[in-house]
Amino acid sequence: MRVTVEQLRDMKRQGRRFAMLTAYEYSIARLLDDAGIPVLLVGDSLGSVVLGYDTTLPVTVEDIIRHTQAVVRGSTNALVVSDMPFMSFQESIEQALHNAGRMLKEGGCQAVKLEGGAPMAATTRRLVEVGIPVMGHIGLTPQSVHQLGGHKVQGKTLAVAARLLSDAHALEEAGVFSIVLEGVPAALAQRITAAVGVPTIGIGAGPHCDAQVQVIHDLLGLFNDFQPKHAKRYATLGPVIQDAVRRYTDDVVAGAFPTDKESFTMDERVLHELDDRHGDRLPFDPAVALAGTPEPNFSGYAPKS
Ligand code: KIV
Repeated sequence: MRVTVEQLRDMKRQGRRFAMLTAYEYSIARLLDDAGIPVLLVGDSLGSVVLGYDTTLPVTVEDIIRHTQAVVRGSTNALVVSDMPFMSFQESIEQALHNAGRMLKEGGCQAVKLEGGAPMAATTRRLVEVGIPVMGHIGLTPQSVHQLGGHKVQGKTLAVAARLLSDAHALEEAGVFSIVLEGVPAALAQRITAAVGVPTIGIGAGPHCDAQVQVIHDLLGLFNDFQPKHAKRYATLGPVIQDAVRRYTDDVVAGAFPTDKESFTMDERVLHELDDRHGDRLPFDPAVALAGTPEPNFSGYAPKS
């Protein structure tokens, strides 16, 4: 049974913090779900950390659906929330309903997240009315990077701080079950957290939010040359991966991998027969030699049917 949006609301009422992480693929989703992360976000940050774009703007609904499917297949306990990509919900409420509906129906997520404050309240309200749970996202909203003039902390001036506070109220009133506060001064995030009844989920928003979210690549140290100020590395896997890859390469070049341990045996009599029949025609055609041989489950990765 997956975590529900109601359970997350209850956690705020009970003063219990929770952690959320991004996930984009099956294997990582399995690890995070097994480790007990209650909320997995298929963020449009996948555009940057998985697909290599400069911004999140090129990410499509199809990208999100494909990665959501993988994360849903890899998890059984976590609530899976999927990001609505740039221009998949801003055109009209109908467009938002259509795309959010696809993300739930085809992707299999249980909720969507969309960027924007009060201007997105009517869209949020309609999604919630038809039964689609919505996570809000205000502050440094990366889809507005060109409007904001870069990835800059938001809310340091009175005008913007007041706007973010009223955005949070508008989203709560519209029915969001939680609000991501990204790139907001800690003291402002504290006030917003105290002002709303739904959990705030901070990223670069200080320690007073009800929950925290991080991009899994930052947490695991998968980029050797980049670490955002708001992130803390709990592992440094980049060099670990590179060391493993170099040792593998050295072994292959030296003929030290694979050994008998990683190889498969066959009946000697078949080999003799093969040599008898085809030895004079080497190099033989493997398609002919293997015709009729049943395919073993070679990798063993695929779930048994
Ligand atoms: O896309 C994403 O990963 C996000 C989080 C950083 C909140 O929106």
